[in-house]
Amino acid sequence: MTNGNAATGLRDLNAGIPGADQIKGAVSAVYDDVASWSRTGDFWNWGMHCPELLNELTDICPNFNAGVSDGFSEQLYFQTLRGLPYSKNEFRSLNVLEVGCGMGEGLNFLSRLVDPARAVGLDLSGAAIRRANALLARGDRLTYVEGDAERLPFSDGEFDLVINVESSHNYPDVERFFGEVVRVLKPGGHFSIIDVYDSRSYARFGALQQEVGELTWIHERDVTENVKSSIRQRMAPGSFFRKEYARKQMPIRARIIGGLGGAHYAGADFIGHRDALSRVLELARVRPKFVGQYESYRHHLARRA
Ligand SMILES: C[S@@+](CC[C@H](N)C(=O)[O-])C[C@H]1O[C@@H](n2cnc3c(N)ncnc32)[C@H](O)[C@@H]1O
Repeated sequence: MTNGNAATGLRDLNAGIPGADQIKGAVSAVYDDVASWSRTGDFWNWGMHCPELLNELTDICPNFNAGVSDGFSEQLYFQTLRGLPYSKNEFRSLNVLEVGCGMGEGLNFLSRLVDPARAVGLDLSGAAIRRANALLARGDRLTYVEGDAERLPFSDGEFDLVINVESSHNYPDVERFFGEVVRVLKPGGHFSIIDVYDSRSYARFGALQQEVGELTWIHERDVTENVKSSIRQRMAPGSFFRKEYARKQMPIRARIIGGLGGAHYAGADFIGHRDALSRVLELARVRPKFVGQYESYRHHLARRA
């Protein structure tokens, strides 16, 4: 199993943040494990459902999910492009970085949709990155690298656009991540971040918005209800998500963690959904709740000075 800490020498980097090494070691181990049983085409996010966004996406690319997904995760990725000032032609000259790309499906989807000059996905999970490179990479146009959001292995000003999807809530030092985003962005480049927040992490995000003077925040959307709609539909009996989950060849421990029908992986706690297994486990105090007390899911877009 790949250990992101060993690969990137994070011990020094996180010296000031108690437990940062352990958090990153656990995160990379968990996602390495998830990569070992994920199926081709899997995204690792809760998705969102927004009829207007879906119509727009379908206009650009009819039948974009072609029956191989429920389309909610693609909508979440499409949302990251909202508010960007680029025309279709301008997209073609951009260098795009996704930090926390998981198995790379989202970046693969966006790169086919808007065809940027170069798209790079980075993730702490070495197993996810190996899968992405083996299955999705396309020459220099789409590549994936193992690395840490808080120490991006790229030169100053290398990218026009950095996106970040349902990942930053894992980072022990989000401030450091923002600093790295500013560093790797060209002047005038954009940073698009969409994630889930509890009251504490959102207050921290707000403070960072004030503190990081190089970023001007130009677009914001609360997509909480859209994300909840996706989760509700995924949790419905007979949904595409539930059928796919049943077909996965997962070790039993992963099924227990994921809950009946994949409830925890799909973000069921966010809509207050508890299946029978999670109730029993909670009563028996076998493990704490899978996710924290998340309150909102939001998209923010900034322009670098
Ligand atoms: C919920 S998944 C989202 C993956 C992908 N964006 C998607 O939507 O399918 C969170 C991802 O963040 C990655 N991650 C967590 N901490 C990270 C860090 N410090 N640096 C880079 N990636 C990290 C995890 O390995 C995982 O792939």
